[in-house]
Amino acid sequence: MSTFSIDRFAAECKQAMAGAPNACDAARQYLEQSLGQHDRADIIAVLEAAIPAGASVGEMIVHQSPELTMLYARVPGRFRSGIHNHTVFACIAQLEGEERSTVYAQSDEGLRVREELGVVAGEVMELPADAIHHIENPLEQTSSALHIYGGDFGALMAKRSLWTEGEHAEVPFSFEGLVKQAAIAMKREGNAKGLEEMVNAIPATKALVDSL
Ligand SMILES: [Fe+2]
Repeated sequence: MSTFSIDRFAAECKQAMAGAPNACDAARQYLEQSLGQHDRADIIAVLEAAIPAGASVGEMIVHQSPELTMLYARVPGRFRSGIHNHTVFACIAQLEGEERSTVYAQSDEGLRVREELGVVAGEVMELPADAIHHIENPLEQTSSALHIYGGDFGALMAKRSLWTEGEHAEVPFSFEGLVKQAAIAMKREGNAKGLEEMVNAIPATKALVDSL
């Protein structure tokens, strides 16, 4: 097995997307091929080494270009995110542990759950550009995944939305807002472990969690 390279992955993935009728399918296939060619532990080691200095959990972007963002997602045990969109396709390659995704549909009465998806280590899951979802780590241990998105996350930030818990009001996306809605959701669900692990992973969220 060859050593995983973020630069090579980004270049080859973009090449595959550019020549394909469906960029999402092409990216998914390239991701699956890549998972088959490298040890997951090797991919994790390369991603760990590439985490930008000072990046919080959820902000570990290891490649960013107009066509592609690569995010190393380390999801704390039992963490459940706020409801959000991406506005571009997403593919999730699970490297360690599991990730569950609850996908919502928009209706006149607000959001309703459309689909529950799951991905375990060694698998790839894709979400279309119009997907609205929240993710959850069902296990007690931190999970690791390579998330890829079909656009530049920085440029897309202003186009993205979050939905509040309970009322499902659509508001502009921010990382702080995502974490706040995550905390509200976990508190409502009595998920003390998820809250504890979020504070361990993102110490700045302690005051927020204490205030709920
Ligand atoms: Fe997401």
